[in-house]
Amino acid sequence: MNSFDKEIAKALEATGFISSEEVLKLLTVPQDTTHGNFTMPCFVLAKTLRKAPKIIAEELAEKIQLPFGLSKVEAVNGYLNFFIDREFLSRSVLSEIESKGLSYGHKESNGKTVCIDYSSPNIGKELAFHHLRSTMIGNSLSRIYKANGYCVERINHLGDWGTAFGKLIVMYLRENLPTDDVTLDALTVKELNVLYASFSKASKEEPALEDEARAAFTKLEEGDSFYRKLWLAFRAATLKELMRIYDMMGVSFDHYTGESFFEDKIPAVLDELREKNLLEKSQERDVVMLDEFDLPPCLIRKSDGSTLYATRDLAAALYRKKEYDFNRCLYVVDLGQSLHFKQVFHTLKKMGCDWYENMVHIPFGVILQQSEDGKWEKGKTRTGTASLLRDVIEAAEKKILAYIDEKNPELPEKELIARQIGISALTFNDLKNRRLMDVKFDWDSALSFDGATGPYVQNAHVRLCSIMRKAGYVVKQEEVDFSQLTDDAAYELIKLLARKGERVESACEMEEPSVLAQYALELSEAAHRFIHNDRVLGSAEEKSRLYLVQSAQCVMENVLDLLGLFPIRQM
Ligand code: ARG
Repeated sequence: MNSFDKEIAKALEATGFISSEEVLKLLTVPQDTTHGNFTMPCFVLAKTLRKAPKIIAEELAEKIQLPFGLSKVEAVNGYLNFFIDREFLSRSVLSEIESKGLSYGHKESNGKTVCIDYSSPNIGKELAFHHLRSTMIGNSLSRIYKANGYCVERINHLGDWGTAFGKLIVMYLRENLPTDDVTLDALTVKELNVLYASFSKASKEEPALEDEARAAFTKLEEGDSFYRKLWLAFRAATLKELMRIYDMMGVSFDHYTGESFFEDKIPAVLDELREKNLLEKSQERDVVMLDEFDLPPCLIRKSDGSTLYATRDLAAALYRKKEYDFNRCLYVVDLGQSLHFKQVFHTLKKMGCDWYENMVHIPFGVILQQSEDGKWEKGKTRTGTASLLRDVIEAAEKKILAYIDEKNPELPEKELIARQIGISALTFNDLKNRRLMDVKFDWDSALSFDGATGPYVQNAHVRLCSIMRKAGYVVKQEEVDFSQLTDDAAYELIKLLARKGERVESACEMEEPSVLAQYALELSEAAHRFIHNDRVLGSAEEKSRLYLVQSAQCVMENVLDLLGLFPIRQM
């Protein structure tokens, strides 16, 4: 569909009345196709051409040499309406899908690199439900960027350093737990969670514990080998569980360079800040002043010499630039951290890194759950009202499994499928609206098979797959009679398939997976309508219609994949 507008622009330019750039600016795609597939209002031309818009439209309609693939042009009340030839459209779109396959609508490599920092949880404890957002938005953006020709570096900036580990060490030793290798190897994140909770409880009665924890962390920072051994064990125990969940969700990373990775890279950053005269003392701490940007100072070093979150982010940014030479570096992190990123980016600016402009915070809203009195609230990890991600996934899986047991108990591998539908449902619920909006999470509406949900779009894909399975053969372009694919239901579906490239591109430009989530919904609706209106198997048009089913399946499969949903084939 993309090239029709360019063809129209060329043909109109040839009339000598208007430039092709002007046409491209004016041309729109009307929602209601009774007025054509493209419309150009002629009103702004009235001044330069000194004629009534209605006359201009009529003259242009008469003069234009209609480009190939368009069936007619109409002048109506100052508008110029173009109609696509349906047979031409179905032939060109569907053959392109057959030849390009899953990468139909993607772009060639552009030689650019984008770093995407996502998920990046603080470890030492389990993933909470709210971690789903950064994980799935980042996962989808990394797939979308790849489809747009970028080389993508997927980075998990684990929070694996900081006082939290001091707390764990203090509590572990206080409870006299064994520190032999075998016990440490077998440690689980659940045990760490318990330690964490007991620390919080104990420190309320004994505030000095907080100081002990800070001291323990300083000792760890100074390289104490026993503390380091404990820290490594805590880190490994959390990572094991983290990987299990990422695997289950189909999420992966190219680099697990957490905060601890930057410890030994920090002295060089401090030297550079000092050399550039950017470090100032404020209440015993080293800071970079950011008054000129109307920002509070960026804290670099505490009075006891220990470094901070921002210091490690500075080191990480410099490292990423050097290592990956990115064109763009995204941080998929909740809106609450905007100030932090502004401070880090502006500190880089003061350091003279002109590439600071390519550092982008990709913020998103929070997940809200309804409390008993009906209020929508945010769960808090600290007070224990946040659900664990694994519990939510398990619960979703159970609910879907109960549904399968009722509708299709013989389904092979039904536990796995139930889990994949469950995870996809949670993901879709997260991605379907603009990312800055808060997500209201409600079990019934997220898991429903009707409405704007994951199960609904997966089901559309499953129906296409099931027709292909029942047919038992694959149709090739040579066998298709494209004049059989021109009725309204087929045409509406084909028009949508034609827009894949445009949607994949705008999802990337806007850095918004929701663009593709909405596209998946439109595709599902059009596919359902086509299957409902145009019988495929056993009809006189079987081969042609099956070809459209194959094409739609191929587009759906890839769109689901770009969203990070499982494109399952049976349910
Ligand atoms: N670990 C942080 C948190 O859970 C998020 C890290 C985001 N990435 C970064 N480079 N700061 O809040």
